[in-house]
Amino acid sequence: MLQGKDFISTYKIDPKVIMAIFSKASFFKRLKSTKPLDLLEGKVIINIFFEPSTRTHYSFEIAEKLLGAKVINFSKVGSSIAKGESLSDTVRTFKSLGAHLIVVRHPESGSAKFISDTVDIPVINAGDGAHEHPTQTLLDLFTLYERIGDLKNKKIVIVGDILHSRTTRSTIFAMNALGGKVVLCGPPTLIPDIYLKLKVEINYNLNEAIKDADAIRTARIQKERFKNFFIQPEEYFKNFRIDKKRIKIANEKILIMHGAPMRRGEEITTDVVECPNSVIFEQMENGVYIRMALLSLILGE
Ligand code: NCD
Repeated sequence: MLQGKDFISTYKIDPKVIMAIFSKASFFKRLKSTKPLDLLEGKVIINIFFEPSTRTHYSFEIAEKLLGAKVINFSKVGSSIAKGESLSDTVRTFKSLGAHLIVVRHPESGSAKFISDTVDIPVINAGDGAHEHPTQTLLDLFTLYERIGDLKNKKIVIVGDILHSRTTRSTIFAMNALGGKVVLCGPPTLIPDIYLKLKVEINYNLNEAIKDADAIRTARIQKERFKNFFIQPEEYFKNFRIDKKRIKIANEKILIMHGAPMRRGEEITTDVVECPNSVIFEQMENGVYIRMALLSLILGE
């Protein structure tokens, strides 16, 4: 279904593609194989991460290894990029060396598309600047789908630093494709005008937004992308921190999600991270199965 194709964005994604990925992910989850499969035997995958990453990088690597692929992890340090080589020459080099697929995370928006225009092997976007992060969206929505079924008419509130959140844009496109609803919440300075043009609701009042929500999903404050802090931290925490008091306002079955890394005690409190409504560690586990599904649909026979 995805043969020979990139996975750069969820813009205009076909809901049938999302469901096909979910169904493959469920298959791999049921299999729970710790022994490598041979579905991608003979395939070489390069993971190029120009930004720090724990979950995304290692879940891709585990998924690739479980499928039997050969995995190469590119590091900027010790490569010719450090000597001034361009990104396009670097990725063309990997293609020449025999890579079958590139997974890339890069601080610039549009970088994954640039790489896919440069080489004719599939490219998966593992986060390009503040633009998109489609596999994180898939693992978030798969986790919801497992818990609450069909996402049609279901409502997810994304709260926090929408301005720098690459997952938010991917999630809006994918939820729209599935007939679900996304509400954005956070300080007005962190919700850029571009979102007024998308099919999404904006509500600056978190207590109001979560009342009838099926899930609440934190968009972490990405301090590394700010020159100046945007709001007094105490004011932010008072209005937007996810804590037990706030959760009481919501539907008692509301699911708590976070893309991580989490800063416990800041955007979310530990008692909420550890409460029965929290699916944060399930999201991480599902990341492996979603990535196995995607890789096997793109590269498998
Ligand atoms: C996301 C990121 O760093 O872009 N997290 C992740 O990849 N594990 C942030 C997020 O999705 O909230």
